Amino acid sequence: MVQTRVRPYGPEAIAAAARLIERGFPVAVPTETVYGLAGDATNGEAVARIYEAKGRPSFNPLIVHVLNAKQAADIGAFNDEARRLAELYWPGPLTLVLPLRPGSGLSSLVTSGRPTVALRAPAHPAMRDLLIATNRPLAAPSANASGRISPTRAEHVKESLRGRVKLIVDGGPTAVGLESTIVATDGAKLRLLRPGPIDLRLPLAAGGAVEAPGQLTSHYAPSKPLRLDARQAEKGEWLIGFGPVDGDSTLSAAGDLVEAAARLFDRLHEADRQPRPRIAVAPVPDEGLGLAINDRLRRAAAGRRGG
Ligand code: TXA
Ligand code: MG
Repeated sequence: MVQTRVRPYGPEAIAAAARLIERGFPVAVPTETVYGLAGDATNGEAVARIYEAKGRPSFNPLIVHVLNAKQAADIGAFNDEARRLAELYWPGPLTLVLPLRPGSGLSSLVTSGRPTVALRAPAHPAMRDLLIATNRPLAAPSANASGRISPTRAEHVKESLRGRVKLIVDGGPTAVGLESTIVATDGAKLRLLRPGPIDLRLPLAAGGAVEAPGQLTSHYAPSKPLRLDARQAEKGEWLIGFGPVDGDSTLSAAGDLVEAAARLFDRLHEADRQPRPRIAVAPVPDEGLGLAINDRLRRAAAGRRGG
């Protein structure tokens, strides 16, 4: 448990928030849609702490907040339609899913290891001040505990995340109150993944956003068979260790779940690139972030069994 402070939005609150973010701790901050739980999108452990604070039992890619289209273009690959939408609606409640650019510097946990990234330039001055003060892209899901509704006031955040975040920046009630519209521009045609405040008159894509049920196949999974709860490698396996189980690589030699979550997708990608035909992963405790790690590992293993 940490002590949760609530500070009114202003230069001091933003400076305190920026210091926490630079140290890898998430901070709740208002956007024009809902309050977000913001963390350094380039730091895997900071992103892992966002999941930890939300108590979410699974990993889902997060929206990355940027100041403007110029900063966004360093991270995602814009086509003409994406550029046009950004010109029309940014800053504002529109999120664009774009192909992730190599060398973007984002942690692989932000995108759940996927080759696409969700980007949004928010309009709220508090989030914009924080983007300027930290000078880095900020991952921010809604600032509620898993399974609770999105917060539109600092009090909602406090009820939901008290003891789990160090700082809530109170900017009063949010103006829009509904999460951003999400549009995928990575395919040939624009696809609406989540309806929201901006009505683009697009049909909702089958499946919607990746957190919708039945979207498991769109999650990143290694292309090789995966064996769980492995204490040593069998023939042909690349073993990903954890804690006391040494492997060819490790999620965390210290058995630290924050570190393990931060590295999960990098280790899976690395294992996938090896000449050995199979992957094994050491047991990870089913508690805290371990729940989300195991959820992802089980899906990866089941995906191969089923297909
Ligand atoms: O208004 C908002 O969008 C708020 C504020 C804080 O900005 N944020 C928000 O983030 O709602 P979050 O993390 O709760 O919602 C992220 C949504 C999820 O449905 C996720 O599946 C989808 O965005 N998403 C993120 N990256 C994606 C990707 N690469 N491809 C498809 N969907 C993606
Ligand atoms: Mg949410």
